[in-house]
Amino acid sequence: MASLGLLVAGLGLFAANTNANPLDKRAAIDTCLSSAKVPVYTSGSADWNQAIKPFNNRVTFTPVAYAVPATVKNVQDAVQCGAQNSVTVTAKSGGHSYGSHGLGGENGHLIVDMKNFNSVTVASDGNSATIGTGGRLGDVATALYSQGKKAISHGTCPGVGVGGLSLHGGYGLISRSKGLTLDNILSAEVVLANSTVVTASPTDNPDLFWALRGAGAAFGIVTNFKFKTFTPPENNVFFSYNFNFGSASQMATALTVLQNFTRFQQPPELNLRLFIAPGTNLAGVYNGDRSSFDKIMTPLLSQMGISGAMGQVTAGAGWISTLSNFAYGPLQQAKVYDTHETFFSKSLMPDWLDPPAITALSNYWAANARGNSRAWYLLIDCHGGNSSAISKVGADDTAYAHRNATFKMQFYDRTYFGNYDNSWMSFLNGWIKAISDASPGKTYGMYINYADTSLSKDDAHTHYWLGHYTKLAQLKGVYDPKKVFEGPQLVGS
Ligand SMILES: Cc1cc2nc3c(=O)[nH]c(=O)nc-3n(C[C@H](O)[C@H](O)[C@H](O)COP(=O)(O)OP(=O)(O)OC[C@H]3O[C@@H](n4cnc5c(N)ncnc54)[C@H](O)[C@@H]3O)c2cc1C
Ligand SMILES: *[C@@H]1O[C@H](CO)[C@@H](O)[C@H](O)[C@H]1NC(C)=O
Ligand SMILES: *[C@@H]1O[C@H](CO)[C@@H](O)[C@H](O)[C@H]1NC(C)=O
Ligand SMILES: *[C@@H]1O[C@H](CO)[C@@H](O)[C@H](O)[C@H]1NC(C)=O
Ligand SMILES: *[C@@H]1O[C@H](CO)[C@@H](O)[C@H](O)[C@H]1NC(C)=O
Repeated sequence: MASLGLLVAGLGLFAANTNANPLDKRAAIDTCLSSAKVPVYTSGSADWNQAIKPFNNRVTFTPVAYAVPATVKNVQDAVQCGAQNSVTVTAKSGGHSYGSHGLGGENGHLIVDMKNFNSVTVASDGNSATIGTGGRLGDVATALYSQGKKAISHGTCPGVGVGGLSLHGGYGLISRSKGLTLDNILSAEVVLANSTVVTASPTDNPDLFWALRGAGAAFGIVTNFKFKTFTPPENNVFFSYNFNFGSASQMATALTVLQNFTRFQQPPELNLRLFIAPGTNLAGVYNGDRSSFDKIMTPLLSQMGISGAMGQVTAGAGWISTLSNFAYGPLQQAKVYDTHETFFSKSLMPDWLDPPAITALSNYWAANARGNSRAWYLLIDCHGGNSSAISKVGADDTAYAHRNATFKMQFYDRTYFGNYDNSWMSFLNGWIKAISDASPGKTYGMYINYADTSLSKDDAHTHYWLGHYTKLAQLKGVYDPKKVFEGPQLVGS
């Protein structure tokens, strides 16, 4: 029986790919990497077993081979080995993709782990820094600060990698005044599918530079970026208010107020998020002093039904303590990263939620979420609005397609006990469906950095890249005609 099962599984793999099982290419790839002297983790070794553990335990894949280059030449040779053997090549930086896209998003990829490309060098004029894609955000922030108290705009979680974050978005504690991480890229060094190394910038390969900033994984392996740096504010207020919604209508009122605030009133110095779990929390950072903070927040809190007594407010915080407060762990990362969760996640990037959509969202919460005992949450980042640096970049200036999103919404459902049962996916799928059904004629954006494994290829393309997909697919044909860099949801897949 067991061998029959294996046989059937094997046939399934053959049927799904027009080529043979990509894992059958292991011997050929190993030989190629070895003769080019590309460092690897050998399949089955302790390093390999650790390295292929994804952040999301729900989504595991087996690579055909795992390269750990030390030089740009090693990256070029690895790409060439993949291309010559018709094996798909995938770059991995921090390995934090929700869909394990850094492990290929499917079995049988040649993984190119950028962990050794982790240097951080601030230029002598202090206005830019060259940063390897394999660096982790906490280490990068610490290194930038140690070189003349500099910073870049980036996400909150210290274990996230520079590569995936910067190529597809990058929202964090200072994005509303400094833009997304990708808005601060001055240039990138890229190994292309034909294994040549090029620079992408506003003047060198500008169309590649456009595509990298929102859809980078499909266009090459970036070894490092030059980023614009700034001197971070040292007088910050961070705050956190805990409260509860008593009913769906109370939630709808609060969301209506918050959406209007973000779109029309929220100053760029205020970075804010609403975290809805069994309890509710409004938290964030204001880059300024306590009295200006109070002037802005007091009316918002009262309209949302939150009393000051529900809050903890810390004023006068320096940049590093501000980052640390939201890191939920040490800012600097251990050599072996070993934090994992077991979850399914979805996103929505609404430009605007009309009243029926807010009602549907809130009713679904009351009927289906509030009583759900798994560790789910809905995180609403107040990302955009008319004062946000993110919204001020032209809609078509980068491949990132969500410039006029007011909210960045992350729906996350996890279990702390054993495996995630796939039937549970209907909980979040139903939540998005309820909002979509209440928004006829509307196509909401979604964020590939919160990769949703339930999306079909076509739906992923539509929601991640909206009106930019056609141009991306055309550029894919120019830069990677043989589809060396592929994945189930990437451009041109
Ligand atoms: C705990 C946690 C917190 C998060 N917080 C935030 C946040 O505050 N703000 C935010 O915007 N996002 C956040 N994210 C989402 C995060 O931005 C994405 O998961 C991101 O893609 C992770 O990048 P990575 O390099 O760690 O992942 P990986 O899995 O290594 O890579 C992700 C994708 O990028 C590609 N890629 C990686 N490196 C390269 C490279 N050098 N060249 C070409 N392609 C490359 C990979 O092939 C893959 O497709 C968070 C995720 C987690 C798990
Ligand atoms: C939304 O904000 C605008 C502009 O500040 C204001 O005129 C309007 O009354 C607000 N609407 C709600 C529902 O708060
Ligand atoms: C944002 O919109 C509001 C309401 O229309 C307006 O009062 C405000 O000046 C605008 N702010 C910016 C920065 O455009
Ligand atoms: C956001 O941009 C899209 C695409 O350009 C447009 O259809 C939509 O009306 C915009 N939304 C708002 C609120 O401006
Ligand atoms: C590699 O690909 C790029 C982008 O398509 C192209 O411009 C370049 O000429 C190619 N180089 C070689 C050596 O084929």
